[in-house]
Amino acid sequence: KSVADLGDLSGKRVLIRNDFNVPLDADKNITDDGRIRAALPTLNQLRDAGARIVIMAHLGRPKGEVNPKYSLAPVAKRLGELLGTDVKFASDVVGDSATAVVDSLQDGEVALLENVRYEPGEESKDEAERTELAKKYAAFGDIFVSDGFGVVHRKQASVYDVAKLLPSAAGSLVAKEVGVLKQLTESPERPYVVVLGGAKVADKLSVIDNLLKVADTLVIGGGMLFTFLKAQGHDIGTSLVDDANLETCRGYLEQAKAEGKVILLPVDVRVADGADFEGLKAIGDVEVVSADAIPADKMGLDIGPESEKLFAAAIREAKTVFWNGPMGVFEIKEFSDGTLAVAKALTEVGGLSVVGGGDSAAAVRALGFADEEFGHISTGGGASLEFLEGKELPGISVLEENN
Ligand code: 3PG
Repeated sequence: KSVADLGDLSGKRVLIRNDFNVPLDADKNITDDGRIRAALPTLNQLRDAGARIVIMAHLGRPKGEVNPKYSLAPVAKRLGELLGTDVKFASDVVGDSATAVVDSLQDGEVALLENVRYEPGEESKDEAERTELAKKYAAFGDIFVSDGFGVVHRKQASVYDVAKLLPSAAGSLVAKEVGVLKQLTESPERPYVVVLGGAKVADKLSVIDNLLKVADTLVIGGGMLFTFLKAQGHDIGTSLVDDANLETCRGYLEQAKAEGKVILLPVDVRVADGADFEGLKAIGDVEVVSADAIPADKMGLDIGPESEKLFAAAIREAKTVFWNGPMGVFEIKEFSDGTLAVAKALTEVGGLSVVGGGDSAAAVRALGFADEEFGHISTGGGASLEFLEGKELPGISVLEENN
């Protein structure tokens, strides 16, 4: 169901899940508001219909604890600017502040609850605990709209369980994203290249076996490349590594060989003593070293120039490309060239190019590209990857099952 199928919304309380997991700098300024902008069409549609809108969203991974570092207050402010109206911000999720804010809403007004992941029930593995919380959310609405595409792969109270408790519909962002990504799953033009990077190493490593089944070539950069290099027996110095997944990576390399697929790894990397993530500076001198000769005291922070050429060539030859995750710490100038090279190659693809995920979208915008230079920029990282793998997305299937 879409919002249009929900009937007259005037005066109705619409509870909506958005993905406002946006990057913030050290002063809590939003450095890329793409996910907030992507939510505007459905929010404006609901406002125009006279609904009273209650938004649920998360920021980061506060793991069930109140932590001001992850407050959605900066998002409420930015959303208000973009909507051109005041957004009432509740300082808790389901407590007194939330109740008061929801009760005060007039037709066409918008409220944002504090980070749903402050509540331990939100991400609980225990369905009963999630349902308890979902009931409290459901008390704030007459209808539920799911429009946080970036989070539909999570079986969480504000995404999944609440949809079972209220009449529900998909918002226009979710519908649009699913429409584009279907083109990649139903009959992608080949060669089909998937480029993976980013910092959520364990999340990404777990999807590679399925991606190998659908894509012809997997290009690996970003945080997870070092786990692959270590799995091949190379020294990786002080680089990020997921030691628990070394065996898994060896298995992927064998699986690729057996299935006639290619896993393309960097041949060189940019290293330094480390990185100052707050000051956005390299620590020590930046050097380019061969991927099989990273010095013991150095940290790999981007792919190197030869790898850029290798990756760009593979991308340009493709007819379908999906890219998720920056190649290096692109926020730091010295480590942005790998991501820049991959982004540039994507703009030169003769077929469908899709960029997926909050960090990748933020990276292309920060590096000066316009959204229109790509076939599609998806707001979902993990969500789009799981969709491409052919996995069932709980936040989507629950909408199909309960309507
Ligand atoms: C994302 O950033 O991909 C989504 O907001 C989901 O966040 P999560 O990986 O912390 O669930």
